[in-house]
Amino acid sequence: MAPRFWFWCHRSAWPRIRPPLARHTPTLRFYQQFSTQEKAPQICVVGSGPAGFYTAQHLLKHHPQAQVDIYEKQPVPFGLVRFGVAPDHPEVKNVVHTFTQTARSDRCAFWGNVSVGRDVTVPELQEAYHAVVLSYGAEDHRALGVPGEELPGVLSARAFVGWYNGLPENRELMPDLNCDTAVILGQGNVALDVARILLTPPEHLEKTDITEAALGVLRQSQVKTVWIVGRRGPLQVAFTIKELREMIQLPGTRPLLDPKDFLGLQDSIKEVPRPRRRLSELLLRTAVGQPHAEEAARRALAARAWGLRFCRSPQQVLPTPDGRRAAGIRLAITRLEDVGEAARAVPTGDTEDLPCGLVLSSVGYKSRSIDPSVPFDPKLGIIPNTEGRVVEVPGLYCSGWVKRGPVGVIATTMTDSFLTSQQLLQDLKAGLLPSGPRPGSAAIQALLRSRGVRPVSFSDWEKLDAEEVSRGRRAGKPREKLVDPQEMLRLLGG
Ligand SMILES: Cc1cc2nc3c(=O)[nH]c(=O)nc-3n(C[C@H](O)[C@H](O)[C@H](O)COP(=O)(O)OP(=O)(O)OC[C@H]3O[C@@H](n4cnc5c(N)ncnc54)[C@H](O)[C@@H]3O)c2cc1C
Ligand SMILES: NC(=O)c1ccc[n+]([C@@H]2O[C@H](COP(=O)([O-])OP(=O)(O)OC[C@H]3O[C@@H](n4cnc5c(N)ncnc54)[C@H](OP(=O)(O)O)[C@@H]3O)[C@@H](O)[C@H]2O)c1
Repeated sequence: MAPRFWFWCHRSAWPRIRPPLARHTPTLRFYQQFSTQEKAPQICVVGSGPAGFYTAQHLLKHHPQAQVDIYEKQPVPFGLVRFGVAPDHPEVKNVVHTFTQTARSDRCAFWGNVSVGRDVTVPELQEAYHAVVLSYGAEDHRALGVPGEELPGVLSARAFVGWYNGLPENRELMPDLNCDTAVILGQGNVALDVARILLTPPEHLEKTDITEAALGVLRQSQVKTVWIVGRRGPLQVAFTIKELREMIQLPGTRPLLDPKDFLGLQDSIKEVPRPRRRLSELLLRTAVGQPHAEEAARRALAARAWGLRFCRSPQQVLPTPDGRRAAGIRLAITRLEDVGEAARAVPTGDTEDLPCGLVLSSVGYKSRSIDPSVPFDPKLGIIPNTEGRVVEVPGLYCSGWVKRGPVGVIATTMTDSFLTSQQLLQDLKAGLLPSGPRPGSAAIQALLRSRGVRPVSFSDWEKLDAEEVSRGRRAGKPREKLVDPQEMLRLLGG
């Protein structure tokens, strides 16, 4: 039977009345009569990063009959745990063991190599499932919006991270590290990840899962100094203490902090909450304290350096005389209005030019709209939602970065995803989801087949995983990532 016809046949068996806007009481009693979906709901999740997997885990744990299918655009699972988390932070990646347990559940299926919005639409998923959870993260980078941003030598931190972590679309980035100085714009944890990878002695990365291609480029790197530039002050940095400590202790490097930037900080930090106070104290000690003799000797011998520049907002990327690539960055000097986290950077009218051969913009990630049928707030870069319920679309939910914006660590994403799952289960219990049986993955698989899409199952991924581990073993690494989707499909015989 032709897939579309099959799909249509099943559709005709579904109730004619679709649920109206959520929680409208007149129809509530009607939906409560139907118990099929409550007994064995078919749910799908779009995206297999932490949000997707934690949402699935919570649904499976709290509903004994729920079937959860995860659709993922990449042929491989785990989102930013694979393509974002730094290769020298292997302990963070241990969450994949929990995700693997979830994926191996009899009631869970993973379908990689399926780009929702392109290979299958959200309305098609809504027709096949009782509920759809969008957990597709934030795939773009936030642009600086300054002249010269498009010049060669200017990269988004997102692309640079994708490159060293083997994200297929960035595998050919090959950044030119043939320069003495790099400038990173933004002072978040991604900025510190990028600075650390640029400055870590390559032999320390050899035993990580960084791609061999990235390691080759880093071995040839001429970068000696990395400036990490923030538009606000030391009390407003977005990175956290553990990551700062790693920078301070980075072998072969020394910190460049101007004590003048820290004048008066000692008094203001007494007022701030404890995590911020401890972070600021560490910054202050590093900037103005006397290192003990051993540390002073280590710093004196260091061939590379990293520094923090404050109250500097990017104004223009300066070109080389022939206009062909970036030669520096013009920074607007700012002053702070208001205090603490709320302080705003206001330009003073003065500028400063900082020469450099590489500019990495690390001012945040950004979600995109996945499907014209799904509400999207382009300004906030999120799907408008109330506690994970997509506004005005019953049966549609969201979790993770696409729900609350591109901030928060894996633990924050977990809490947030559990919350979305709770709302979904509440709606299910209240009879607010579409009633009657739904075909679930059978209908979607048929559609994908008809469109020539070859989904990658979790057991397929386990074969790719074994191949990566085996290639890595030969090089003494935990894995050598496959970076070409075509090669992955070839290895799977499809
Ligand atoms: C560079 C970087 C390093 C980080 N390091 C750490 C760290 O060390 N520790 C920590 O706790 N947190 C870290 N974080 C934060 C953490 O990664 C996030 O909190 C978390 O990944 C957000 O989860 P998510 O599922 O919302 O998004 P993601 O992890 O981005 O997952 C979204 C998934 O959806 C998929 N997708 C996108 N579009 C589609 C589509 N159209 N169809 C199907 N699938 C789609 C994507 O391919 C991806 O797999 C880091 C973040 C970044 C950017
Ligand atoms: N090791 C880890 O745990 C780890 C590693 C990586 C990422 N993460 C997490 O992932 C999330 C995303 O990290 P992120 O670093 O991308 O984002 P982030 O923490 O939001 O930091 C963004 C930085 O960019 C600056 N910025 C934003 N817009 C700017 C502009 N127009 N001009 C100049 N500067 C601008 C911000 O300054 P303002 O404050 O002035 O806006 C801030 O310093 C964070 O929650 C982070 O903790 C965690």
